[in-house]
Amino acid sequence: MDLFEYRNGRLYAEDVPVERIADDVGTPCHIYSEATLKRHFNLLKEAFAEADPLICYSVKANSSLAVLKLLDEEGSGFDIVSGGELFRVLKIGGDPARVVYAGVGKTRREIEYAIEAGILMFNVESKSELEAIEAVAGSLAATAAVALRLNPDVDPKTHRHTTTGKKENKFGIDLETAGAIISDLHALPHVKLTGLDTHLGSPINTVDPYVQALTKVLPLLESARAAGHQVEYINIGGGYGIEYRGGETATPADYAAAIVPLIKKSGCKLIMEPGRFIVGNAGIMLSRVTYVKESGDRSFAICDAAMNDLIRPALYDSYHKIWPVTTDKALSESVDARADRNGYANFDVVGPVCESGDFLAKGRTLPRMAEGDLLSIFSAGAYGMSMSSNYNSRPRAAEVMVSGAGYRIVRQRETYDDLIRAERFD
Ligand SMILES: Cc1ncc(COP(=O)(O)O)c(C=O)c1O
Repeated sequence: MDLFEYRNGRLYAEDVPVERIADDVGTPCHIYSEATLKRHFNLLKEAFAEADPLICYSVKANSSLAVLKLLDEEGSGFDIVSGGELFRVLKIGGDPARVVYAGVGKTRREIEYAIEAGILMFNVESKSELEAIEAVAGSLAATAAVALRLNPDVDPKTHRHTTTGKKENKFGIDLETAGAIISDLHALPHVKLTGLDTHLGSPINTVDPYVQALTKVLPLLESARAAGHQVEYINIGGGYGIEYRGGETATPADYAAAIVPLIKKSGCKLIMEPGRFIVGNAGIMLSRVTYVKESGDRSFAICDAAMNDLIRPALYDSYHKIWPVTTDKALSESVDARADRNGYANFDVVGPVCESGDFLAKGRTLPRMAEGDLLSIFSAGAYGMSMSSNYNSRPRAAEVMVSGAGYRIVRQRETYDDLIRAERFD
């Protein structure tokens, strides 16, 4: 489903050999494919067409302005979780009337900013937050549209750090409390209940958690309507899985087949908040091997990309395919159980950061590598750059957008001066 492929032993992003980008822009570097971004957005839109969804791309997955601009042009709305993300959306000319705002800790300043910008709705995560929105909206003589983000206590069967819809998680409002809030809502004249929302976690590779969640949430819709609220939207959040290894996830058609009938029956409009599905496999990260270090039966490929550039392996033990950019060995041979290991070795692919948790892959059977070799780390478009940091005072990587046979730098590599720009010591 993506446009990164090997042609005669060389990796291409659309029609650009990625070595060319590495030579021009340097490494580490994130590369995105414009056609893949559009394709993924439209795959989801088409699969769910019967429900005519408002797709609000989840900005946290990759908040780069060039990505936001492209998705805005495709007709996407945006799911945001901070004033900073709203600022980015407004910067690229995104329509605030297609913005939904989640997050457990919205400050009064952020709430004011969002009301003044005219967002579609807040996804409210607690009674206290609802009261804060009421107060801020009142002070602005406005009415704020809200959805209640519900915590349906459903296990999405994903990593514990990215599970958000179980009762022990900080997210959302439990169903009982939500019922009470709905009954008392008429006492808050500056908020208007227009939706019910869930987001269960990420990535969710099966449809079942979505169905379980909707089955628990939809009865509340009846209570809300009975209490006189005009609930128009059901927001099922994001979390749709992608192929990191291959073949591990449901397809958009699978998700739609289970979810759309429930939404149609509810009579509501559908909102979705996909992040990873759109951008995950639309991006790779390039890195060069600085040194190869042998230690007993282990080989370390020490790269110029590190956990500060892509933290998912360190944080979640996530798997990213890694393969040399120029090679006579097909990527599909990357199975560790392969019988013929001639020309291969067992590698830990690591970065230069001073942490043992700084790795991109461990114990991976890869083509033998040498210093100076260029590697591609696949599926790095989501939660790569947006979770990057300057740890170890490492400037952030460059970002490149490929379109057909051309490409452009959409974020310059940071300089040492960028590292200290906001600081002073006198
Ligand atoms: C509220 C909310 N919506 C949507 C998403 C996007 O998830 P994904 O990128 O897996 O689609 C997240 C991710 O954490 C989220 O917290």
